[in-house]
Amino acid sequence: MANQLRIATRNSGFIDPESIESYIAVGGYQALGKCLAEMKSADVIELMKNSGLRGRGGAGFPTGVKWGFAAKYASNTKYVVCNADEGDPGAFMDRAVLEGDPHSVLEAMAIGGYAIGGNKGTIYIRAEYPLAIKRLKMAIEQAKEMGLLGDNIMGTDFSFDLELKYGAGAFVCGEETALINSMEGNRGEPYTKPPFPAEAGYWDKPTIVNNVETLANIPAIIMKGADWFNKIGTETSKGTKVFCICGKINNVGLIEVPMGTTLQEVIFEIGGGIPHGKQFKAVQTGGPSGGALTYKDLDAPIDYENLIARQSMMGSGGMIVMDEDDCMVAVSKFFLDFTMDETCGKCTPCRIGSKRLYEMLDKITKGLGTEEDIEKMRSLAVNIKDTALCGLGQTMPNPVLSTLRVFEDEYRAHVQDKKCPAGVCTELLEFTVVAEKCVGCTLCAKVCPVNCISGKPKEVHVIDQSACIKCGACLDKCKFDAIIKQ
Ligand SMILES: Cc1cc2nc3c(=O)[nH]c(=O)nc-3n(C[C@H](O)[C@H](O)[C@H](O)COP(=O)(O)O)c2cc1C
Ligand code: SF4
Ligand code: SF4
Ligand code: SF4
Repeated sequence: MANQLRIATRNSGFIDPESIESYIAVGGYQALGKCLAEMKSADVIELMKNSGLRGRGGAGFPTGVKWGFAAKYASNTKYVVCNADEGDPGAFMDRAVLEGDPHSVLEAMAIGGYAIGGNKGTIYIRAEYPLAIKRLKMAIEQAKEMGLLGDNIMGTDFSFDLELKYGAGAFVCGEETALINSMEGNRGEPYTKPPFPAEAGYWDKPTIVNNVETLANIPAIIMKGADWFNKIGTETSKGTKVFCICGKINNVGLIEVPMGTTLQEVIFEIGGGIPHGKQFKAVQTGGPSGGALTYKDLDAPIDYENLIARQSMMGSGGMIVMDEDDCMVAVSKFFLDFTMDETCGKCTPCRIGSKRLYEMLDKITKGLGTEEDIEKMRSLAVNIKDTALCGLGQTMPNPVLSTLRVFEDEYRAHVQDKKCPAGVCTELLEFTVVAEKCVGCTLCAKVCPVNCISGKPKEVHVIDQSACIKCGACLDKCKFDAIIKQ
């Protein structure tokens, strides 16, 4: 795929991820060596601040600033945590980095430890990533054998040990405080901040939690310098971003592009546009917490601020493309279904609010919604955002609010006309035979699972609407385009 710039994924696919020699051959562990030999901890933090690197896990917090906070708290133990929970549906950016270049993450964690004055690292990785886990384990062993992890790294007095902890696949455990709870053996529920983990995190010790992709950038930044990184991207968002583009797009997959690349470039140049000559309808950025952007936003240079200004967000890099055949009410319902399942239940607005929102969406897709439901949804969504404890609840209503804003006419069609303009919501569909086109071949009647099509051979057939279960089998079977779905 063209127009890409690979920093976080620079080695994936080029080196043997199971061989430390292969990583060393492309300059691996030189950044750690440089930090230990030539830089004080404060220099490393300064360099990270100057680079402008911001967290790729979703919040976009400046990495150097976070490291600076943890460095300033005095403690005999400090932790570096790699967040490899990656729970967004359809996202696999972090998995690709861990499977393709595990040493870059280990090296960055050791650099983080050196910078904040910490000697212990933990990678919290979901157990559903067996290949990434296998390669991380191998990489840790290899690095220990070579004296690149463990005691007295490279003959210095800096020691850094790493362990893995496995997540059971709960989306909320990617939230840093829930992750810490889970690592400590508690329920994976978020807690209120402050104190932030940088002050009191894992076992109440100063802890930096960083995303896999954030970490993978770090060795390259140390070696090439803050200015090099700072020149890539936009005014406020430096470097590149890895995106996972999927849905109705020709080139599905993982891409890494400089911040500031437009959605137009990502979807139509790199992604190759929409399959089967269909019209682009929307793109959901930010996963289940994000919002839908339309053709009006295609010129938007992708960065943290621009996406927020257009009522969506960067998130961790999921991008789901939708075409004219997608119903935006059904899309909102899909995301709500996910977050409703994933709420930890600790606070009422999120636990109960998600259910009520889902129920209203469900009613609308079944043709039972009212005008009042639309207004109730809007007000409940705003309430949940304002009162939920953690980022999951605070962002959960975003898909509803953004589709209500941009595609309100679609909601109204479901509620007022009892129609789904995209032809997705089954309960609102009607299959009918166009008399002028029907030649009476009987094929539709033969495939109908509930025998609700009647007609003699060579005569126009008729569908009994009260018995039709809207399976679509007749539509697929008719060779004369005589059956329509409305
Ligand atoms: C519901 C929820 C899920 C999250 N899941 C992840 C995740 O899977 N991976 C991740 O790195 N950050 C995730 N985050 C963000 C983390 O809380 C945290 O901001 C991030 O790990 C910090 O690393 P960074 O500064 O390098 O981005 C999630 C946040 C929320 C609210
Ligand atoms: S907002 Fe939702 S996920 Fe977050 S603490 Fe409350 S109930 Fe749990
Ligand atoms: S398959 Fe088409 S043409 Fe044949 S009977 Fe049915 S509607 Fe008519
Ligand atoms: S949609 Fe299915 S159930 Fe309805 S008429 Fe066609 S084949 Fe029969």
